[in-house]
Amino acid sequence: MRTQVGIIGAGPAGLFLAHLLHRASIASVVLESRSREDVEGTIRAGVLEQWVVDLMGELGIDGRMKQAADFHTGITLQWNQTRLHLDMQDLTGGKRVTVYPQHEVLRDLIAGRLAQGGEIVFGVSDTAIHGIDGDAPEIRFRRGSGAAEESLHCDYVIGADGFHGPGRQAIPKSVRSEYQKVYPFGWLGILTNAPRSWHELIYSNQAEGFALLSTRSPEVQRLYIQCDPHDDIAAWSDARIWEELHARLDIPGWTLHEGPIFQKGIIPLRSFVCDPMQYGRLYLAGDAAHIVPPTGAKGLNLAVADVLILSRALEAAYQRNDSALLARYSAICLRRVWKGERFSWYMTTMLHRNPAETEFERRIHLADLDFVGSSRAAATALAENYVGLPFDPL
Ligand code: FAD
Ligand code: DHB
Repeated sequence: MRTQVGIIGAGPAGLFLAHLLHRASIASVVLESRSREDVEGTIRAGVLEQWVVDLMGELGIDGRMKQAADFHTGITLQWNQTRLHLDMQDLTGGKRVTVYPQHEVLRDLIAGRLAQGGEIVFGVSDTAIHGIDGDAPEIRFRRGSGAAEESLHCDYVIGADGFHGPGRQAIPKSVRSEYQKVYPFGWLGILTNAPRSWHELIYSNQAEGFALLSTRSPEVQRLYIQCDPHDDIAAWSDARIWEELHARLDIPGWTLHEGPIFQKGIIPLRSFVCDPMQYGRLYLAGDAAHIVPPTGAKGLNLAVADVLILSRALEAAYQRNDSALLARYSAICLRRVWKGERFSWYMTTMLHRNPAETEFERRIHLADLDFVGSSRAAATALAENYVGLPFDPL
């Protein structure tokens, strides 16, 4: 098999890239280890930055999103049992907060790509990257375990294979620096059949810890609570989850609507950056190169930002025989990535209760929230980051 760009991973990074390359008349093949059902059924991110929403429109895959997404003008921050409405639209000159789940974005991307005649091979195994040092790289794989080994020959290999994929490991350790912070708390996320409790997202920091109220539809709500990352989900009965959610979200005169919980799971929180994001003919994108804790809602958006830059660089290389942008790909991405890392760390630190924090640190976090509530400049800085920073000129 031969193509121009071989992409490992049918997550947001890999699939947006396939669309962007198609728009630039560049051929690609996506290799994905999971089944289509699994990819389309995994519950993850919820918030899209405004430019990602606009990009879906440009790519012609926003039909379902326009119908089903929840568009909010702001978010609510809560501490000391009081609420602060941050009017994102006002603070950012018209940008909105779009809640449209990642698996729905993936369904739109996959359907759109297949309708173009694009190739996505699901269920591959033994993916291995070869020859990125030279000019004839290849990705070896099997169409399922036990099948014969095949080779995808290409000009460039894209590691859009998430945090645990083989992409990053293909960059020799001697040229790769990794920066990491592991947080002493995780998120327990649930889906519940319940009506909406509030008209926008609530990020709450209470004495009991962090909670986030989000939504999926008028009938299905998404909620998260801070927990011990090592907790066994079996220790969290539905009754205990609701008790903690009430303790962290309820305020006088308002109580959370409950319903049956039909999905729950725990994720650890980490910040991680790999520098550089490229080596020879290999380019990393998205979670393969960087992870943020979910509090800033940045992970998916950073993944799409990487591939928007990568698609422009590949376009310059193919159409104008100019590989200067490709050479600077990692440096261009990492400037934006580090700002996303900073914002995600800031939101996480300000809104969670670190089990080891001193009373001094606790009061600093509350003062940080108070500052956002009392300074338009501070509120604007938060809003600009939340809705998505502008891109640096290439
Ligand atoms: P992934 O989505 O991980 O995709 C990588 C793909 O590669 C996977 O499908 C995987 O199966 C495949 N793969 C791996 N190894 C191989 C292999 N060897 N061969 C072939 N294929 C392989 N982000 C936001 O922007 N906003 C949010 O609100 C938000 N909330 C979140 C909430 C939660 C609970 C979680 C867990 C994450 C959240 N994120 C959020 C983060 C976001 O989900 C990720 O950053 C995003 O999925 C990254 O996309 P990606 O394409 O880089 O990687
Ligand atoms: C959701 C996830 C996030 O990480 C976040 O910051 C806001 C919303 C969600 O899943 O809806």
